[in-house]
Amino acid sequence: MAKPPQIIPSILSAERKRLQHYVELIEPHVKAIHIDIMDGKFVPQENFCPETVELLRTRLHKEVHLMIIDPDREAEDYAAAGADTIIIHAELFDDPISLSAALKNIRKLKTRAGVSINPETPVSKIKPVIKDADLVLVMTVHPGRGGQDMIPECLKKVKEIRKLSKSIDIEVDGGINKDTIKYAVKAGANRLVVGSAIFCQEDPVDAIISMKKLIE
Ligand code: DX5
Ligand code: ZN
Repeated sequence: MAKPPQIIPSILSAERKRLQHYVELIEPHVKAIHIDIMDGKFVPQENFCPETVELLRTRLHKEVHLMIIDPDREAEDYAAAGADTIIIHAELFDDPISLSAALKNIRKLKTRAGVSINPETPVSKIKPVIKDADLVLVMTVHPGRGGQDMIPECLKKVKEIRKLSKSIDIEVDGGINKDTIKYAVKAGANRLVVGSAIFCQEDPVDAIISMKKLIE
């Protein structure tokens, strides 16, 4: 059985200068935070680095979503900076053997290993490596920025993956808000990454509490 659904705030949409403040604000209400790392190559934007992960003081589980072209080389730096889960993109690997090896290397760093697929990437790309991953992240928008509308077709892939494994953590990321969250859970997702629907709201804590009620 999959673990119960949980909301994982994505700090990408939080005001940069007040990240620590926002993390402390949400800390009592969630178990994990999602930290997007972008290199300006895999996605057009560029943002955080290992120091961002290291400097954020929190008891929350730090989940790092690497939207970078060289996750193999950089995973070690993020693990050293305190990442508890490292998520890499399947699109960067030509074959299942190299993807499997990258996931195994992440586990060797004593962090959980996640594999992510973009909206246009089929489940067949990750099927052979599901056993090497602790979580599968199904992007429900095109990666690179917050505040986009969810692409509902992506939820079909969530259903497909849930059929392959009843217990694996399935995460959705992009366009999750009070209107879409229930559909994601119904499809089989148990980790709901939420950015703008928390941090672009007047009261981020209230936004979390309201969405939690919808998935209980
Ligand atoms: C987008 C990032 C997301 C982003 C989600 O590429 O991976 O984590 O913060 O933001 P919302 O929830 O606003 O779509
Ligand atoms: Zn993300």
